[in-house]
Amino acid sequence: MRITVIGTGYLGAVHAACMASIGHEVLGVDSDADKITELAAGRAPFYEPGLADLLRPAVRSGRLRFGTSFAEAGAFGELHFICVGTPQLAGSYAADVSAVDAAVERLVPRCARDCLIVGKSTVPVGTASRLAAVVAGLAPAGVTAELAWNPEFLREGTAIADTLHPERLVAGVSSARADAALRQAYAPMIEAGTPYISTDPSTAELVKVSANAFLATKVSFINVIADVCDVADADVATLAQALGYDSRIGPQALGAGLGFGGGCLAKDVRALAARAEELGASDAVAFLGTVDAVNAARRRRAVDIARSMAGGSLRGTRVAVLGVAFKPGTDDVRDSPALAVAAAVSLQGAEVRAHDPRAAANARALHPQLRFAPDVTGACEGADVVLHLTEWDEYQDVDPWALRAVVREPRVFDARNVLPLERWRAAGWTARAFGRRIRPGRAEGPRPAAAGGRLAPVGGGSPRPPGPQCPSWCLRGDERCECW
Ligand code: UGA
Repeated sequence: MRITVIGTGYLGAVHAACMASIGHEVLGVDSDADKITELAAGRAPFYEPGLADLLRPAVRSGRLRFGTSFAEAGAFGELHFICVGTPQLAGSYAADVSAVDAAVERLVPRCARDCLIVGKSTVPVGTASRLAAVVAGLAPAGVTAELAWNPEFLREGTAIADTLHPERLVAGVSSARADAALRQAYAPMIEAGTPYISTDPSTAELVKVSANAFLATKVSFINVIADVCDVADADVATLAQALGYDSRIGPQALGAGLGFGGGCLAKDVRALAARAEELGASDAVAFLGTVDAVNAARRRRAVDIARSMAGGSLRGTRVAVLGVAFKPGTDDVRDSPALAVAAAVSLQGAEVRAHDPRAAANARALHPQLRFAPDVTGACEGADVVLHLTEWDEYQDVDPWALRAVVREPRVFDARNVLPLERWRAAGWTARAFGRRIRPGRAEGPRPAAAGGRLAPVGGGSPRPPGPQCPSWCLRGDERCECW
C-alpha cells in the first residue's frame, strides 16, 4: 500500500520503518527539517534499538522516503497515519491535541486520491468523531476521505518488536472499507495470528488510554505495597514475583521503585481523568488522582532517602547518579523520574555527577548544571552517595568491591530494586532500596584487598569474619545488620 506517516518522533519513525519493512511504500512527513534530513539518510534521530538497522535498507531500496511536504503526502498516500505528539496541555491535565488537528487540517485539503486518515496518536475519547466531520468538510471535491483510529501500544526500547509482533491490533472504524484497508495494511501481523479487534473509533481511543492508565495503576499499586513492605520488614521483590505467577495478575509492571515516567503514562492518566470529568464521570476515575499522587511521591521519597543517607543534608556533598533516562533502552528523558531526582538533589546543594549510556546529551540540554562522566567509575569518584535511578543492564554488573575503592563513602540507594544488594553489602556498602529486605550478604567475588578496596570500616572496630551473628564479611553495620 502507499502509506504516509505524519509525525516522525518515537512513534512515527518506528511505524514508518516497520511498515516499509513489511513491504509497503512509505513516505514519512515532519515539519522538523533536521529530523527529516537524518531519517532520509537512513539514520535514526534518537536511540531506539534496531531502528537504524530497519531504516537503512528501507531507505536505500526507495520503499521508505521522508519529506516535509503535505502536498506530496496528499498526492501519494491511500493510507495516512497521524503519529504526532499529544503532550499535556499547559495549565491543565488535558491532552493538547492541537498537533493532531493541525496535521488533519494541513493534510486533508491536499489529498488527491481517495484515502483513509488513521489516527495513531493517543487522544481523548471523542476526538475521532469530532475530526471525522473536519475530514469530511475539508476533503477536496471528488475525493473520498474517511477517518479511523488505530491506537499504538509500542514501548520505547522494544518499539520495533512491539510494532512488528504486536500483542493485539485495535481498529476503530466507521465503515467496512476502512476496516478492509487496515486489515490489508497489517496483513502479515494478522496472518501471524495477532488478535485484530475491530470496533468503533471511540472504543479504540479509550482502549489506549485505559491500557496506559491500568499499567500506571499497577506500578503505583506495587509501589504502595513496597511502602508497606518497608514498615512490615517484608520484601517487595519476592512478593511481586509471587503475585506475577497468578495468571490473572501477570508479572509485568510490578517493578517497585521510582515509579513511572516518560511521555505517556502520567500524561495519559491525567488526560483520562480530565476527559472523564468533562464528560461528567469524574467520580468514576477519582482513584486515578491517587495513582498519580503515589507516583509523584516516589521521587520526593527518593530525594529524602538520598539526603538521609548523606547524613541529613545534601549541601556540599557529591552524589553519583547512575541513569537519567526515564527507563532503560531509550535516550528519552521526558518526565524522567531519574532526572527529576538528580535535579532535585542538585538543587539541594549536592554536586551531581551522572552517567547514562544513552541519555546524557538529552539530560544535559534540560539540566546543564548536572555533570556527566563517560563511565560509572568516573561518576562515582569521591561520591558520598551513589543513586541507582535507571536500571540499565550494565549497572547490575558493576563490581561493588572495585567501586568501593573510588567513592568517598560506600553508600548506595537502589531506587529501581534490581541491583544485587546483598553482594554490595558483602563488599562493605550501606545499601537501601524501596521495600526490600536485604540480608547481610555472603562474601562473593574478590576480597576488598584484591580489588584495592579500603578495609577500614566506618564506625570503628575491625572487620569480623563471617560467624553466627552475621554470615558475611560485614565491614559496616547498618540499621538491619546487628553485627557491629
Ligand atoms: C507505555 C506503554 O507501556 C505502551 O504500551 C504505550 O504504547 C506507550 O506508553 C505509549 O503510550 O506510547 P513506555 O512509556 O515506552 O510505554 O514505557 P513503559 O515500559 O510502559 O514504562 C513506563 C514507565 O513505567 C517507565 O518510567 C518505567 O520505568 C516505569 N515502570 C515500568 C515501573 O516503574 N515499573 C514497572 O514494573 C514497569
